[in-house]
Amino acid sequence: MSLSIDHALKIAIAAAESAGQILREMLETASVREKAPKDLVTDADLAAQAAIEKRIMSEFPSHVFLGEESLIAPEQWEELSRNEYCWVVDPLDGTVNYVHQLPNFAVSIALMRNNQIVLGVVFDPMASELFTATQGGGSFLNGKGIRASVVGSLEEAMVAVSFPPQVRRDSIEIQQFIEVLLCSQSIRRLGSAALNLCYVANGRLDAYWANSLKPWDVAGGALIALEAGAALTGLDRKRFDPWNGNVLAAASTSLHEELHKCLEIAKNSGKSN
Ligand code: IPD
Ligand code: CA
Ligand code: CA
Repeated sequence: MSLSIDHALKIAIAAAESAGQILREMLETASVREKAPKDLVTDADLAAQAAIEKRIMSEFPSHVFLGEESLIAPEQWEELSRNEYCWVVDPLDGTVNYVHQLPNFAVSIALMRNNQIVLGVVFDPMASELFTATQGGGSFLNGKGIRASVVGSLEEAMVAVSFPPQVRRDSIEIQQFIEVLLCSQSIRRLGSAALNLCYVANGRLDAYWANSLKPWDVAGGALIALEAGAALTGLDRKRFDPWNGNVLAAASTSLHEELHKCLEIAKNSGKSN
């Protein structure tokens, strides 16, 4: 039987909202540990993922589930992606913000069909903001259609970036940060890749890029940005692939091109150091 995308969306929303409630309830009491240096996880991440997995897998037992906290090795991702339906879930995107009780974190859920993202749900439980998209069906915030901004140049643009948990002083990321800081109107590192993509989708941000993310950070938000009219590719300007971990999203194609050029300049200047 073929899947009803509306039904899958309903289940994804219910799962995201119940995980969001868990995150809100545990905000002040969650215990924290390091998975790796500066890479935090809390028992709220685990409880939220368990609730999402239970909701989705009880409804769709033949689907496969990749959640950040399942700790499935990257070598196994390709096999998962070969399944007809694969859910890609970050139960808490922005764990460092969460640990500091800084209200900028979200639940991110995507459904891939034959390796194409067909549904994205990102829920910010503190702001009660629910971003949704289905392939070809547009993007919504709390049920109202959203569009990316009309900003066309870097000097007018508010740009965000994500860094991996550890960054080296002489890394390309730092070179790129400096270059974009100089060329854009302003730059932010907000701490949630999923929300950054949603904010490109509704015009709070004009552009966003990242070099080293995981599929669960970006799969849901990428569809939401694309369906809101953003120009979104990999950093090489080729087709976006959530398994690659890099993304370049902008409100317009001209801004996308200019930001890409700026990032390339930084990359090349880094090579001569
Ligand atoms: C992190 C956030 C952050 C990005 C990190 C991610 P997490 O996800 O998306 O914006 O810079 O690379 O790991 O660990 O909070 O789920
Ligand atoms: Ca994440
Ligand atoms: Ca996470």
